[in-house]
Amino acid sequence: MARNSIDLAGQNGLVTGGAAGLGYAIAERLIESGARIAIWDVNQKALDEATAKLAKIRGKDAVTGVIADVSEAASVDAAVAATLKSFGSIDIVVNNAGISGPNVPTWEYPIEEWRKVIKINLSGAFLVCRAVIPGMRAKNYGRIVNVASVAGKEGNPNAPAYSASKAGVIGLTKTLGKELATTGITVNCITPAAVRTAIFDQMTQAHVDFMLSKIPMNRFGQPEEIGAMVAWLCSAECSFSTGAVFDLSGGRATY
Ligand SMILES: NC(=O)c1ccc[n+]([C@@H]2O[C@H](COP(=O)([O-])OP(=O)(O)OC[C@H]3O[C@@H](n4cnc5c(N)ncnc54)[C@H](O)[C@@H]3O)[C@@H](O)[C@H]2O)c1
Repeated sequence: MARNSIDLAGQNGLVTGGAAGLGYAIAERLIESGARIAIWDVNQKALDEATAKLAKIRGKDAVTGVIADVSEAASVDAAVAATLKSFGSIDIVVNNAGISGPNVPTWEYPIEEWRKVIKINLSGAFLVCRAVIPGMRAKNYGRIVNVASVAGKEGNPNAPAYSASKAGVIGLTKTLGKELATTGITVNCITPAAVRTAIFDQMTQAHVDFMLSKIPMNRFGQPEEIGAMVAWLCSAECSFSTGAVFDLSGGRATY
C-alpha cells in the first residue's frame, strides 16, 4: 500500500522500546517522514541491529540507539541527556515500551509481576513525560504519543495488570492533554488491538485467540498501520487533538 507523505522534516524525537515490534515500525515511519529519531531500549543487541537497519533509510545521522530502562528514573534522565547530546532538542516522544505480563486471573496474579507491568507500562510513560516536558515547554512545542491498548478501554480477562496499566496510560494522557492544552504541546494516545509482534511470546495461545476473536475485521493489525497513525499524531499539522484516544482496533472498540 502506498504511504501518505507526512512532513516531519527538522523534527527530533525518541521512541521507547524502539528496537522491535511496534516501536521499530513507528521509528521507521517517523524517519521516513523526515525526523531524526533516537530509539530507546533495554535490549542492547536488538538496539544495535535496529539502529543499523534504520540507518539505511536516511543515513546514520537520522537515527541513534540509546540504552534505557523506562521504569528507572535515573536511566530515563541519562537517556534524555544522550538524546539531547545527539540531536539538541526533543520535539516528538512516543512512549511505546511495554510488556504483557502473565495471563492469569486477578486473584492468582503474582504480586511481583503486577508491580513490574505497572512499573514499565505506566510509570515508564510517566517518567519519560516528566523528563521531557520541561524542554518542550521551554520552546512551546511538542508532540507526545502514548501507546496504550484496547485492553485499557475494555479490560481483557486474564490480563489485569496489563489492562490496568493501559487504562492508566489513557488517564495520564487525558490529564497531560488538559495540563498542556494552552501550550503548543499535544499529548495523545493510541489504543491498538492485537498486532502480531514478539509480545505474543509472553501470552498464552488462548489469550491470542481471544484477542483475535474480538476483532470484527477478523485479522491482526499490522505494525505499519500503527506507525502511520502515530506519524500523523506527531506532525505539526495535527494540532487540534490533545488528551485524545485514537482507535486502531479493526472495529473492536465501540467508543
Ligand atoms: N502487539 C500488540 O498486539 C499490542 C497491542 C496493543 C498495544 N501494544 C503495546 O505496544 C507497545 C509495543 O509492543 P510490541 O508488541 O511492539 O512489543 P515487543 O515485545 O515486540 O517490543 C517491546 C520493546 O520494548 C522493549 N522494552 C521492554 N521493556 C522496556 C523497558 N523497561 N525500557 C525500555 N524498553 C523496554 C523491549 O526490549 C522491546 O524491544 C507496548 O506498550 C504494548 O503494550 C501492543
